[in-house]
Amino acid sequence: MPPANNFRVLARRLSSLAFNPLPALLFVHVLVCITLGSPYVAAQKVALSKVELSVDGSKPGAKIDRNIFGQFAEHLGHGVYEGIWVGPDSRIPNTRGIRNDVVAALKALKVPNVRWPGGCFADEYHWRNGIGSTRVATLNSNWGGVIDPNTFGTHEFMDFIDQIGSEAYVSVNVGSGTPKEAADWLEYMTAAQPTTLAKERAANGHPAPYKVGYLGVGNESWDCGGNMSPDYYLSQFKIYDRFVRNFNPAQQDKQQMPKIAVGPGGSEPRWTEWTETIMKAYQQHTWSWDMNGLSMHSYTVVRWPPAYASVGFGETEYSQILKSTLEMEGLIAQHSAIMDKYDPQKKVALVVDEWGGWYAPLPGSNPGFLVQQNSLRDAILAALNLNIFARHADRVRMANIAQMINVLQAMILTDSEKMVLTPTYYVYKMYVPFQDATFVPVTFDAGSYTHENVALPRIDAIAARDTAGKLWLEITNVDPTRTVEIDANLTGITAKSASGQVLTAPKVDSVNTFEAPNAVVPKPVSVKASNGKLVLILEPKSVTVLSVEE
Ligand code: AHR
Repeated sequence: MPPANNFRVLARRLSSLAFNPLPALLFVHVLVCITLGSPYVAAQKVALSKVELSVDGSKPGAKIDRNIFGQFAEHLGHGVYEGIWVGPDSRIPNTRGIRNDVVAALKALKVPNVRWPGGCFADEYHWRNGIGSTRVATLNSNWGGVIDPNTFGTHEFMDFIDQIGSEAYVSVNVGSGTPKEAADWLEYMTAAQPTTLAKERAANGHPAPYKVGYLGVGNESWDCGGNMSPDYYLSQFKIYDRFVRNFNPAQQDKQQMPKIAVGPGGSEPRWTEWTETIMKAYQQHTWSWDMNGLSMHSYTVVRWPPAYASVGFGETEYSQILKSTLEMEGLIAQHSAIMDKYDPQKKVALVVDEWGGWYAPLPGSNPGFLVQQNSLRDAILAALNLNIFARHADRVRMANIAQMINVLQAMILTDSEKMVLTPTYYVYKMYVPFQDATFVPVTFDAGSYTHENVALPRIDAIAARDTAGKLWLEITNVDPTRTVEIDANLTGITAKSASGQVLTAPKVDSVNTFEAPNAVVPKPVSVKASNGKLVLILEPKSVTVLSVEE
């Protein structure tokens, strides 16, 4: 209703009440309260929206592996070329061709591992094209059919990993490669003795062996990786596992290069059959083959092809996407249950090495480049998923959001020399203390947030003690319009004070842009700590992380 009409209705109401002063006074009082924010109205609002949390510091759980905060950088669109690599001759400040601004931003996230070179790209990648002084230009047939100059290859990737202080998670080509090609690549990267391949590495500028932290054997081998049946893939995996090894005697302990097999991509029977086949075989593994992780891919997409907009949407799309993302919980539970049957000791990690929101490409962008904006909704989506992984920390020990820069749910967007950090970036930054922290149980009645036909838990929360013993608490308010008072009762924790940060913004689709990079950034939040309790007000649609001083 236009403001002039509002005014007329109000005036009519007031005049109709004029003959009886009491209702008129009450009406005016309520009006003033609403307008000026009376403590009575505020208190009532808060009282209606209280959620009690119980944080039990006396019952520590599993370690939240830092690797669940892993990233994924595929040769796709501007993820690698422009996002990371600009070349040594670029006017964009760089170190040996790698952007300095991006490196500085990523260092602050303490990125535990980076998965590279794909994705679907990995099963068409031939490592020899990307070493030495003459690089071979190839076509990236998966992603836009553009030329990949291969100027970013093994040495550049390892340099990047080194510059950001991370570990390499390398995916080898099973679909169009051979065990020999992959074994040679590993020898080239890891051999410490002067083999011909190690000498070639040295001649190309790196005498010391590289460390490959994790090895992925193929990617989505049930689809873009070669449309294999689970049995066929299993035979391939056994061969690759046997021959594609860490060639450095100082790193020969398998734990120093865990091998990750291709796993499921959904909940339907074909995926449960896949997990069954691999895990059943694992039960019979011998000295000649083993596995340390089973990959799982799950994007938040609602339906294919991805059609939801990444910016310029409202509460309907907000609630539908968040409903869809919470399916991660059931998917992990489903595949973990199969893994438990064959691996009750949980030796094999469930590795969610592709996840995140996948939306329609931004208008005007190359659809093969998977370019999308990143909004407050994505920050909340990220927090909900990280919390799910943390609650399954005994099985989910690695995860890689897709993807690191300029592709899908990115941490960073770049445009030539410009760079902007996304709301998802800030969630990862706020969660740094949870890396390798010990899970602390939190129980609560989340209440519900409903919009149209979607009902969601209104809040979510996790707690953990970091490696120095400090307690951290994360609370997400999914509700986009209502504040919540949080009363956190602490057991086995004597809180002297608490402080923290909140990430929120005016709209569910608020974004950071090159022109306005600080629209969605964390701000300090105030917390009251007394009598074994923390009390704070959670803003609507927000992610809050607190640390507690004991
Ligand atoms: O992340 C984009 C693509 O999604 C990956 O290349 C592929 O593994 C998945 O289907």
